[in-house]
Amino acid sequence: MITEDQAKEQAAQAGAGPAGAEPPLVSGHAYDGIQEYDNPLPGWWVWTFVVTIVFSALYLPYYHLGEGQLVADEYAQDLALHQELEAKRALESGEVSEQVLAALAADAGTVAKGAAMFQTNCALCHGAGGEGKIGPNLTDGFWIHGGTLLDIHRVIEKGVPEKGMVPWGPQLGAEAVKQLTAFVAGELMGKDRPGPLGPQGDPVGGAAAGVERAGQ
Ligand code: HEC
Repeated sequence: MITEDQAKEQAAQAGAGPAGAEPPLVSGHAYDGIQEYDNPLPGWWVWTFVVTIVFSALYLPYYHLGEGQLVADEYAQDLALHQELEAKRALESGEVSEQVLAALAADAGTVAKGAAMFQTNCALCHGAGGEGKIGPNLTDGFWIHGGTLLDIHRVIEKGVPEKGMVPWGPQLGAEAVKQLTAFVAGELMGKDRPGPLGPQGDPVGGAAAGVERAGQ
């Protein structure tokens, strides 16, 4: 058993350098012969730590409970705005290409407009969910007239009158045809909803789509 005084003495010895000028490196606090090393954290470190605690006390309520916007939300908002602007430009350009149609399909506003028109004009034959009725299933991987966005746009615009698919271009206008294509591409394609008709046309997707895209 070491007394407090002995510990202090030992501490002084342990701490003193060869010249004896250095202050002791042990605190003088001992328990069961184990001495405490006197090594406080640097002031700048402690203060940095305190600042992070204060910062978190302000940050957490503001960003997670209050009106502060998290980075992910901000990003999603910016992305939506970007897609909206892209879609607007794509619509106004009058140009029709895979890229323009893909930009429209990525924009929620354009897809929503297409969705409304689909319900009034197309659901009767293609089903409310695009699963097919009189007209073919638009959600499976099979397409009679090709599965690229340009193919779909062309069929909606020009129709297949001899088979009962109306040419919608003259009736609804160029903008509506693009919005409908955006809806078919953005909301129906690939959803694989079971319908009353079996697969019609050729399978598109996987390797076949890859070849088609690469060949464009
Ligand atoms: C009167 C029924 C009818 C209506 C209404 C109709 N379609 Fe069709 N649609 C068809 C039929 C039938 C076909 C298949 C044509 C064929 O066999 O060549 C078809 C084919 C299509 C295809 C091509 C499918 C493929 O496999 O290549 C698309 C895309 C399409 N319709 C979209 C639309 C959209 C969008 C609307 C609404 C603006 C619409 N259709 C309204 C009957 C209809």
